[in-house]
Amino acid sequence: MTQGNRIVVILGSIREGRINDRVAAWVSAQLSDHGFAPEILDPADPEILPVQIGDKQAIKRLQERMKGADGFVIVTPEYNHAEPGHLKTLIDSVTAEWWARPVGLIGYGGISGGLRAIEALRVILAELHTVTIRDTLSFASPWRRFDELGRILDADDRAAAEAAMAVFAHRLRWWTDSLADARIARPYDRPEAGDFEV
Ligand SMILES: Cc1cc2nc3c(=O)[nH]c(=O)nc-3n(C[C@H](O)[C@H](O)[C@H](O)COP(=O)(O)O)c2cc1C
Repeated sequence: MTQGNRIVVILGSIREGRINDRVAAWVSAQLSDHGFAPEILDPADPEILPVQIGDKQAIKRLQERMKGADGFVIVTPEYNHAEPGHLKTLIDSVTAEWWARPVGLIGYGGISGGLRAIEALRVILAELHTVTIRDTLSFASPWRRFDELGRILDADDRAAAEAAMAVFAHRLRWWTDSLADARIARPYDRPEAGDFEV
């Protein structure tokens, strides 16, 4: 059986002063503890940011960063009951890199804890031939809960988040390994022209 460890962790925010780094730092550390090899993909990285205006070289760099990943974890805030617009643009900028990969969704925000952004993303990611992990993590008011280094301040809060992460990581492991095996057994390619309506 193949072990699919390479997880690209995609940040949802490009806002100056964003909370995203704190939550993503915690998520990355947790994924490492659960045996994955997380790599942060920051849409605000100057090499990647021009994806937002369709820059071909930046899209190529994005494809390189995503190519061959065993799975993705998106760590996103909620903006007006959905995912941030620039995250949608980043998602829309590549195609085959998503195919037959699991995507875990972790949200944060005000009172919503990012749950509506998570559910909005499922619809988009289904169109890109991914499997979204049923289990999620959600953080309401993360600015009160995480320090600058991405540590959860309160012990009970930390224990609850770690318990939720254990379930999430267990499911992510099943899907990354299973889809890695499936992609080897049977490439997930395009059907012959005419077989499907697009
Ligand atoms: C434009 C905008 C819209 C927002 N809409 C929501 C919302 O609909 N629901 C919610 O719970 N929080 C909402 N928030 C709060 C954000 O989720 C919260 O500020 C979060 O920390 C933003 O993530 P960031 O700091 O990493 O950019 C909104 C924030 C902004 C800037």
